[in-house]
Amino acid sequence: MDFGNLFQTTYTTEKFTFFKSSMPPASTPPTFDVEILSSPSAATDFDKTGEVVWPVSVLLAQFLLSYAGLRARIEDSEPTSPLRILELGSGVGLPSAAVLEYYAGFKNRISLRASDGHEAFITTGEGEAGILSRNLEKYEQNAKAIPLLWGKTQDVLNALPSYDVLFAADVVQWPAVVEPLAMTVHALLHPGKGAEPKKRPVMYLGIVERDDGALKQKFFALLCSYGFSEARQIKYEEYLPRVEGEEGGSDEAAAFTFPAKGAEFGGRICMIYEIELIDFDMVPVLLEAGVTDKLLSSGHEQTMTLPCVNASFS
Ligand SMILES: C[S@@+](CC[C@H](N)C(=O)[O-])C[C@H]1O[C@@H](n2cnc3c(N)ncnc32)[C@H](O)[C@@H]1O
Repeated sequence: MDFGNLFQTTYTTEKFTFFKSSMPPASTPPTFDVEILSSPSAATDFDKTGEVVWPVSVLLAQFLLSYAGLRARIEDSEPTSPLRILELGSGVGLPSAAVLEYYAGFKNRISLRASDGHEAFITTGEGEAGILSRNLEKYEQNAKAIPLLWGKTQDVLNALPSYDVLFAADVVQWPAVVEPLAMTVHALLHPGKGAEPKKRPVMYLGIVERDDGALKQKFFALLCSYGFSEARQIKYEEYLPRVEGEEGGSDEAAAFTFPAKGAEFGGRICMIYEIELIDFDMVPVLLEAGVTDKLLSSGHEQTMTLPCVNASFS
C-alpha cells in the first residue's frame, strides 16, 4: 500500500496579533498584525520542530516590538551603517517577520538575517525557497534567510560580519548542542578585538521554563565565561500591558495581558532574557585559526537524535 510522503507538510498562513504599546494603563492598546506561513500540525517530528510557531517566539516578537531598548538602537543607527540583527534557530521566523513589519519605516536602518540549521527551511531539496525564506521574501531589501548550524565554522564565517543584536526563541533545550549554541552566539556578537561599538552587542533570548532551569543556567554560565554579562530576566511590565485591577500575587503572569498564542500550555512560564557582551578580550573559539566544527557539547559526542546536527554528519 502506498501511503505517499507521510512527512510532507502543508503550510498555512496564520495571523498573529501584537500590542502596539505596552504602556499602562492602556487596557485595550492598539494592535498590529503579522501574517506568516507555518505548519498547522499540533506535533512535529524532532527534526521539524521549527515548522510550527512556538508560544515563546510569539512572546519574544511582542517583546521586540515593545521594548524601548531595541527601538533606541534602531533609531540611533544610520542608513550608512544599519543595525545588524540576527535570529538563530528561527524556524519559520515570526520574531524576524514581526520586527521587519513593525519597523518598516526604518528599513534602511536595519539589516536582518534569520537563520536555521535545517537547510530545508532556507532552500528545499527541490531547490525552491524554504519556509523561512518564503516568510522573509517581501522584506528582501533588508532581510535574508541563511543556513546556520550552531558550531559549524563555515556557516559562522558566512554569516559575518558581526551583529549588534541577536535573538532566539526556544533554542536552549538540547544539552548536546548548548555549547555550540553559546560559541556561535559569542562568535557572531564579537565585534573584533580592539573594536569599540557604540552600544554593547546584545542577545535577547526567549526561554520556556520546562525543567529546573539547569540547562538555561549552563548556557548563561558558558556565555559569562566568554565575557558576557549576567543574564537579566526582563520583567513583563517592561513590554506587556497590565490587566487593570489585577495584582497577580504569587502568579506574576496573571497581572499582564499576553499576546494571543503567546502563553505556554500547561502553566509553563515563558521569559525573555537580555545578555550583553561586555568584555571583548577573549577571541571566540569558532573564529580561532584552524579550528574544526564544534557541533556537539563536550561529553555529548555520541548523541544521535538531534534536530539539524545529524544531517551534517552524512
Ligand atoms: C523549538 S524550535 C523553535 C523555532 C522558533 N524559534 C520558535 O520558537 O517558534 C528550535 C529551532 O532550532 C533549530 N535548531 C535546532 N538545533 C539546531 C542547531 N544545532 N543549529 C541550528 N539550528 C538548530 C531547529 O531547526 C528549530 O527551527
